[in-house]
Amino acid sequence: MDYKNGSAVTEFILVGISGDWQLQAFFFVTFSLIYGATVLGNILIIVTVATTSTLHSPMYFLLGNLSFLDMCFSTVTTPKMITDLLSAHKSISLWGCMAQMFFMHLFGGAEMTLLIIMAFDRYVAICKPLHYKIIMSHELLNRCIILSWTIGFIHTLSQMVLTVNLPFCGNNIINHIFCDLPLVIKLACVETYTLELLVIADSGLLSFISFILLLVSYTVILVIVRHKSPGRLSKALSTLSAHIIVVTLFFGPCIFIYACPFGIFTSNKTLAVCYTVITPLLNPIIYTLRNQEMKKAMRKLWVQQVSFM
Ligand SMILES: *[C@@H]1O[C@H](CO)[C@@H](O)[C@H](O)[C@H]1NC(C)=O
Repeated sequence: MDYKNGSAVTEFILVGISGDWQLQAFFFVTFSLIYGATVLGNILIIVTVATTSTLHSPMYFLLGNLSFLDMCFSTVTTPKMITDLLSAHKSISLWGCMAQMFFMHLFGGAEMTLLIIMAFDRYVAICKPLHYKIIMSHELLNRCIILSWTIGFIHTLSQMVLTVNLPFCGNNIINHIFCDLPLVIKLACVETYTLELLVIADSGLLSFISFILLLVSYTVILVIVRHKSPGRLSKALSTLSAHIIVVTLFFGPCIFIYACPFGIFTSNKTLAVCYTVITPLLNPIIYTLRNQEMKKAMRKLWVQQVSFM
C-alpha cells in the first residue's frame, strides 16, 4: 500500500451484525434489555453494599467494585453497538475508536486484577478465618483497589501508546461490532508484526496466565478446606463455583480472542458479545441470586424505599 499517497483515515466503518432488518431489530431489543438490566443490576449492588452496614466487609466491597467495573466495561461498547444496529452508516471516528480500545483495556485489566484479589480474599477468609480481619484490613483493601486500577492503566497504556501513532491510510473497514485492538492494528499501513506480538503477550498471555493462576488458587483453597474442615466443603464449593463461573466467562473469550495464533477468533462476534454484553450482567445475577445476605439486604432496602414514598 502506498502510504504517502493514501489519504488519512478519519473514521472507521464497523460492519456490525449483518442480517435482515428483523434480525437487527431482534438484536436491538435483546441487547437493549440486557444492557438496561446490567446497569440497573450493578447499580443496585453498589447501592446495597454502600448503604447496608452488615455488608461492610471486604468481600462485599470487592463485589461492589466488580459491579462498578462491569458497568463501565459494558458501557464502553454496548450502547454504541446498540445504536449501530439501527443506523445504516455504522461509523466510528478515529479517536472514538482509540478511546474505545483504551477504556476497554483499562476496565478489562482492572477487572482481571480485581478477580485475582477476590480469589486472595476468599483464600484468607476460608483458610485463615481467625486472621481474616487483621489481614484484610481496610488499608490493604484500599491498596488492592488502587493496584487494580494501576495495573489496568499500565496494561492499556502499554498497548495504546504504540497504537495511536499508527498511520491509517487505506482500508478502514472493521468486520466487527466494536473497535478491537488486533483488528484495528491490522488496518495500519505499516508493518505491525512487533505490535501484534506485544498485544498477544500483553492481552492474550496475561489473560491466560491470570486464568490459570485463578484456577490453581481455587483448587488450592478447596484442597485445604477438604483437609482442615470437611464440614465446610460444601459451603466453600458453592461460593467458589460462583467465582469460577464468572472467571471462566470473562477469561475464556479473552483467551480465545487475544491468545489464539493466526487470529482465528479475533473477529468472532459471538465471543465478543459474550464478554462485553453477557458477562457484565451475569456477575450481578450469579453473585446476588446465590447470596442470602445480599438478597436480605436488597429486600430491606426495597421496603425502606417503599415506606419513604
Ligand atoms: C470499593 O472498595 C473500597 C474499599 O477499598 C470501598 O470503600 C468502596 O466503597 C468500594 N466501591 C464500591 C462501589 O463498592
